[in-house]
Amino acid sequence: MEKTNTFIQTNKDRFLEELLALLRIPSVSADPAYDGDVRKTAEKVAESMKNAGADNIEICETAGHPIVYGEKIIDATLPTVLVYGHYDVQPADPIELWDSPPFEPVIKPTKNHPEGAIFARGACDDKGQMFMHVKALEAMVKSGELACNAKFMIEGEEEVGSENLGVFIKENKERLKADIILVSDTGIIANETPSITTGLRGLSYVEVEVTGPNRDLHSGLYGGCVANPINILAQMIAQLHDEKNKITIPGFYDKVIEISPEERAEMAKAPYSEEAYKASIDLTDVHGEEGFTTRERGSIRPALDVNGIWGGYIGEGAKTVIASKAYAKISMRLVPDQDPHEITELFTRYFESIAPSSVRVKVKPHHGGEPAVTPINSNGYLAASKAMEMTFGKKPIPLRSGGSIPIVALFEKELGLKTVLMGFGLDSDAIHSPNEHYGVFNYFKGIETIPYFYKYFAELSAEKY
Ligand code: BES
Ligand code: MN
Ligand code: MN
Repeated sequence: MEKTNTFIQTNKDRFLEELLALLRIPSVSADPAYDGDVRKTAEKVAESMKNAGADNIEICETAGHPIVYGEKIIDATLPTVLVYGHYDVQPADPIELWDSPPFEPVIKPTKNHPEGAIFARGACDDKGQMFMHVKALEAMVKSGELACNAKFMIEGEEEVGSENLGVFIKENKERLKADIILVSDTGIIANETPSITTGLRGLSYVEVEVTGPNRDLHSGLYGGCVANPINILAQMIAQLHDEKNKITIPGFYDKVIEISPEERAEMAKAPYSEEAYKASIDLTDVHGEEGFTTRERGSIRPALDVNGIWGGYIGEGAKTVIASKAYAKISMRLVPDQDPHEITELFTRYFESIAPSSVRVKVKPHHGGEPAVTPINSNGYLAASKAMEMTFGKKPIPLRSGGSIPIVALFEKELGLKTVLMGFGLDSDAIHSPNEHYGVFNYFKGIETIPYFYKYFAELSAEKY
């Protein structure tokens, strides 16, 4: 990997500049106002693949935003790595909470990134991490040290549920043939404590609507006489957890795989400070399901959270009114073997059952996704572990994450492929939040680590024969 490393070292400034250029395009997939920018970003990703030396590059149209495909096949007898990532980003709002404009990247040091971090929407999730793979490919191709065949599939709809990627995968099984899927869209414990993600939670996402009277009413004339949809919605939401912070939906936990005490003890060995955790988000205490640690609550246990709630008057001053309708968006994070469709069903049934006869409720399902766990004894995991040990000087710790990448379960189902989640972000990088950032250290550490993954994966695969 000597030539590859030299190539990376001598091209660092350019690699950084190119990422900043990519971050300047606001590829917000959720908002149609940005459709043109999403496409421009796809074109830029395709161009960067071309510059990296990839072949058969195609901007693949879907019913939504395009998927960028590219490959470098050097030898049919070598294993093939399929890289997945996303070039779309979350909306930037609330924009007023950003210290610098979300699509005008700046580099500033932070507590966890004394060497500087790139502040921009998508810096960590996932443009910065996805682009590490393009740059690593460029370094390997131009140095003649690419050790595996490479295929790239970079989508533009991850942040809105990846529905069209599912279709694309089903229709392109031949083209996507590979031996392993490699993804950098997760994190590590700390820059001094590398880790590899071995599990993701699933997701069921619903929107609820509670309707009371057929119009907004004067709260003096009608107050106390009719159901106020906002009051009722608040009561209903409060009923979704019990006093032990368990979710009350009947059947919700039926398929949850309980983790053995041995495995929990093993998990508890990963370095973690509850004090630092609380301090990092300004909390005096944590909150969650009785009988589980914070780490467990956020990885091996499911969760239900209201993501947004609205209704009634929220303008200046006071308006005495009983709203006709109240709404909430609710996410449920799932663990193996919970099924998102089944959970959405259970939620709907329960939510309807607890509604008083004075209101009507509607539950609208949004996108979902299945949970996933990845093995720690596969060639893919071992290659990632060796690669990180090489560049960090420390063996990475396997750790389950609480986030979701719904497509991972589908990769296994449709392509029969395992995924390696070798991400380089930090929890403190504020993904989906104002002031999202990505460490310059992490960006280059990723670019340096990926070539070793290819090298070790090729070696481990060869040993099998
Ligand atoms: N990259 C994240 C998921 C993630 C982040 C996993 C950090 C583990 C560690 C991904 O882009 C994401 O935000 N996923 C969504 C789900 C999607 C269906 C909107 C999520 O987890 O909310
Ligand atoms: Mn992501
Ligand atoms: Mn995301």
